[in-house]
Amino acid sequence: MFDTSDPAFVADPYPFFAELRREGAVHWHPQLGLYVAVTHGACDTVLRDRSLGRIWRDREPVEAFPAFNMLHRTSILENEPPTHTRLRRLVAGAFGRGHVERMRPAVTALADSLVAGLVTRLRDGEPSRDLIADVAEPLPVEVIAELLNVPALDRHLLRPWSNAIVKMYEYGLDPELQRQAEASAAAFVAYLRGLVAERRSRPRTDDLVSDLVAAADGSDRLTEDEVVGTCVLLLMAGHEATVNVVGNGMLALLANPEQWQQVVADPEVVPTAVEEMVRYDSSLQLFERTATREVTVAGVTVPEGAKVAALLGAAHRDPAAFVDPDVVDVRRAPNNHLGFGAGIHFCLGAPLARLEVQAVLAALRSRLPGITLVRAPQRRPEFVIRGLRGLDVTG
Ligand code: HEM
Repeated sequence: MFDTSDPAFVADPYPFFAELRREGAVHWHPQLGLYVAVTHGACDTVLRDRSLGRIWRDREPVEAFPAFNMLHRTSILENEPPTHTRLRRLVAGAFGRGHVERMRPAVTALADSLVAGLVTRLRDGEPSRDLIADVAEPLPVEVIAELLNVPALDRHLLRPWSNAIVKMYEYGLDPELQRQAEASAAAFVAYLRGLVAERRSRPRTDDLVSDLVAAADGSDRLTEDEVVGTCVLLLMAGHEATVNVVGNGMLALLANPEQWQQVVADPEVVPTAVEEMVRYDSSLQLFERTATREVTVAGVTVPEGAKVAALLGAAHRDPAAFVDPDVVDVRRAPNNHLGFGAGIHFCLGAPLARLEVQAVLAALRSRLPGITLVRAPQRRPEFVIRGLRGLDVTG
């Protein structure tokens, strides 16, 4: 069974997954203490089966993690029906009020100006630039900050808080990093309480926080904790994955220059190329569920109370679901990836995420068609959120 702390596994988990897939669709992972689903079909079942839920259990000791636990207890992502249905209806109602369309010109302009800045520095004689630091990181944070109208001066706070909190989703985390995650959660909550109070007293138009505060379904409204929890979820879900889809995806395209050339040659390829960036080297590798009763997944019995994980990276390389799954194909169609999930928790931000990654690709192909890798990038050591430390490019 694979070891999530083994650098060889984190560097390239796909051969490990291929071997597991040959032996079966679902396996017990003793080190993680959960079942892992490694085929596309089994992962799809894990995400959709209503007897497998996202059941939140407060992190213990509870007195050490009050803010972290509050954020997750109130999150759409961590709840099942009927609470999930209620939260999703209220949040989707606010989110659906034209916010993604409102953002379209800003996202396109921002991606274009970030890429233009990178190109200028290369033209000014710098031998290489880091695509992650220059483009992939700032874009999604700015977009979410803009969506929530976080004042410009405060935006630099968001990414460090979010980075510290999401470390908690890894396995075997160092106690000091756990403490930092809680401290960041507390600071994030305090900051957003201030922002929410401000929007409550002075609602704005074209403002998602104001719409969340006002969101109503009859007499039902989001509580203050729910509005705060939703804003933090949007900030974290909204940028951690997007940064790494751009990073991992551009690495895949640049390591296969003939694929990049297809994107350069034909702008119509951009949408399918983005789906392939989501599939090929998954930025989110694992999602957990808990069995609310005994359930069978791909022939394996999972007892009530046990946890099962969908390994999206493994699903995305399943030859039963994709032709030549280990090959990057920017024109791949159909591309039935699970990168945005499936079932009731399907990513609420998928249209925005697609818009962002498409805007980056469009800007890169027109402004820097000759982009190439300067050196093999360094990976981050985490497994669940898979990403690069940097991606040095020139062109
Ligand atoms: C390319 C970037 C993104 C990827 C790969 C991604 C992926 C996912 C996945 C796999 C899930 C389902 C988790 C599960 O089933 O347990 C999810 C849920 C969610 N995502 Fe995304 N996401 C991305 C971007 C975004 C953005 C930009 C936003 C918001 C602005 C967002 C907001 C959410 C929310 C709110 C949920 C929870 C939905 C629910 O539980 O009903 N995501 N995302």
